[in-house]
Amino acid sequence: MIVLGIDTSCDDTSVAILENRKILSNIVSSQIKFHSKYGGIVPEIASRKHIEWIWEVGEKAINEAGVTLKDIELISVCNGPGLIGSLLVGLCFAKALSYSSGKPIIGVNHLEGHIQAIFLEEEFPEFPFLTLIVSGGHTSLYRVEDFGKYKELGRTRDDAAGEAYDKVAKMLGLGYPGGPVIDSLAKQGNAEKFNLPRPYLHGSLDFSFSGLKTAVKVLLKNLGYEEDIPDEIKKDISAAFQCSVVDVLIEKIKWAASMEKLKRVVITGGVAANSELRKRAEMIGELEIYLPSKSLCTDNAAMIAVSGYHRFLRGEKSDLYLNARAYLPL
Ligand code: KG4
Ligand code: ZN
Repeated sequence: MIVLGIDTSCDDTSVAILENRKILSNIVSSQIKFHSKYGGIVPEIASRKHIEWIWEVGEKAINEAGVTLKDIELISVCNGPGLIGSLLVGLCFAKALSYSSGKPIIGVNHLEGHIQAIFLEEEFPEFPFLTLIVSGGHTSLYRVEDFGKYKELGRTRDDAAGEAYDKVAKMLGLGYPGGPVIDSLAKQGNAEKFNLPRPYLHGSLDFSFSGLKTAVKVLLKNLGYEEDIPDEIKKDISAAFQCSVVDVLIEKIKWAASMEKLKRVVITGGVAANSELRKRAEMIGELEIYLPSKSLCTDNAAMIAVSGYHRFLRGEKSDLYLNARAYLPL
């Protein structure tokens, strides 16, 4: 079955073509350079860029896959959660394709997309398994019983892990997005130079990273650096901050797996591209860890296409009344 997937939930315009679970193309057009000077995503700019790019990205995906519009048998589109103006662009594009071609359309939750990114890989876990989604908007643990059967075990009470990375990077004058740059600076820094808190929230599988972010702010103030921070300090703070975040994520994975008696764990979402998290996760001896490749951890349309494909196989489909939702629980 040839499936066209679309994701425009945030700042990436992405269209993918799959043949069943096999990726034929997965085009991700990043808007970062238009947002970085503002230190975060500007929703109005994001939706305007999606409008400008969606058709071109769609054509590129179809050409690269070596298929034609006529070959497409299912249109799978992310309809939430995300920025409403951005979601609407992908959704209108999907509806127009569906209406003009008569092909079925199916709406997919962005978080389901992140979970199912692992099914685009050669190696994927058997059900049931534990999933940690760590992205710019979410830090959540789920028990995954089957396709479409997700039980939330914990979630962030304030900032998501990726959001904390982005805000700390802004304080350090490192630009947006913060994750990749902190990841690379941390490798050159000494994580023990500064002692930052580990917000474990003992007894809970929820997360909270806003206190850690504030601790970095206070540390910079106490050191007397609010601007012109020396490179050495940036590296050491990056290493200490990253060590704190990764310690918490790893501990929570272990707690959740033991509470739910699960052996298999999928770690996914943009922050799952982090080299320290990947390294430390692989070192957990007692669990089988599954990590999508880095390009499938960050936002992409192939993960939406594979989720729609699995829903369609279960007999589900949407119609042209499908709406976008900024808030859409899984
Ligand atoms: O999943 P994603 O592409 O978009 C959302 O659904 O949010 O995640 C984006 C987030 C950003 O906060 C970015 O800073 C973070 O993922 N990120 C990373 C790394 N690469 C991206 N965080 C830590 N280390 C990385 N290597
Ligand atoms: Zn995402």
